[in-house]
Amino acid sequence: MREHGVDETVILKELEDAAQRNVPYARVLSSMCTTPHPIALKAHREFIVSNLGDPKLFPGTASLEHACIGMLGELLHLPLAAGYITTGGTESNIQALRSARQLKKVDPGKANIVLPESAHYSFDKAAQMLGVTLRRAPLDDELKVDVDAMAGLIDRNTIALVAIAGTTEFGQVDSIPAIGKLALDEDIFFHVDAAFGGFVIPFLKDSSKLKFDFEVPGVMSVAIDPHKMGMSTIPSGGLLYRDERFMKLLEINAQYLTSQVQSSLAGTRSGASAAATYAVMRHLGMDGYRKIVSTCMDNTLLLRDSLLDMGLELALEPVMNIVTTKLPDAEATRKKLCDMGWFVSTTSRPEALRMVVMPHVTRTVVDSFVTDIKKIL
Ligand SMILES: Cc1ncc(COP(=O)(O)O)c(C=O)c1O
Repeated sequence: MREHGVDETVILKELEDAAQRNVPYARVLSSMCTTPHPIALKAHREFIVSNLGDPKLFPGTASLEHACIGMLGELLHLPLAAGYITTGGTESNIQALRSARQLKKVDPGKANIVLPESAHYSFDKAAQMLGVTLRRAPLDDELKVDVDAMAGLIDRNTIALVAIAGTTEFGQVDSIPAIGKLALDEDIFFHVDAAFGGFVIPFLKDSSKLKFDFEVPGVMSVAIDPHKMGMSTIPSGGLLYRDERFMKLLEINAQYLTSQVQSSLAGTRSGASAAATYAVMRHLGMDGYRKIVSTCMDNTLLLRDSLLDMGLELALEPVMNIVTTKLPDAEATRKKLCDMGWFVSTTSRPEALRMVVMPHVTRTVVDSFVTDIKKIL
């Protein structure tokens, strides 16, 4: 830091320059985040100084967080769910597994978690932090976890099962009712990572075919991210529990704070996320999200059809707004697209080019993306 401060106008210019260097969302088909809804931005700005780590100093903000958990609970078929607004899917996944670790006493170094090969890397972080081993079950031909293989990996030191509703790479949904049954039969805590799919599946036309939330017996916790398809600001995640007791397992004494105890991973945490999430969920309602998801799915199918017309093969028929197409050298194509200013990503098993059709990927964006990809394939 400099000895003497710099004039505000200079700094504002520096900030403007930095913002200009960021990639505009309209060129991004690799991210699961999008431009937040304007009402979320407004609410975020208004609550930027509130700290939910000390909730009794901010009872108004705390009531917004409480209302968010109520709305998320309704969305996930459990209006009285417990939970809190996290910083995103990573924190939600870590915390859910922390509850499982607290719940089942297993000798240190022996605890394991059984999860799909397709699970997000946040589970690797959780495993390192909690000192547990990950046992990864293979996927079937549809890129869903093989439930029999999961069953075969369970032993008496298994503290949790995990399933994914909307895998990061392909957007596939695991067979959650079957895994819920397994969890109940084996009496094991079951966490569903719906960080991406949580704000998509309930709004799909055939949503009732994909059961993934508290409607499924055995599901004990769900991660769902407002800062992905929920149109809220970053950082906004949601962690919901079937029972308050799982959240209580996380309580730590925090005597100097107004609440005396704390369950969240972060200490000081932004109230802006809760305010933004509250505002956008109240404003859009089920109907508003249905329209957003419907447009994303229309654009997803437009992109899928354009790729099929080019003679390309899909890695998976889109279940949600993610298109994956098999290519012999997907990485080379990704780099060429990047040189043209497009951001897409690749997957490894199977090797594919991956495009996430977020709300900023409009019909016009799809058309111009397709025009460019045709030039290089
Ligand atoms: C399925 C899934 N879970 C968890 C995460 C982690 O979310 P975050 O980056 O918000 O921590 C992601 C991120 O893309 C995800 O796709």
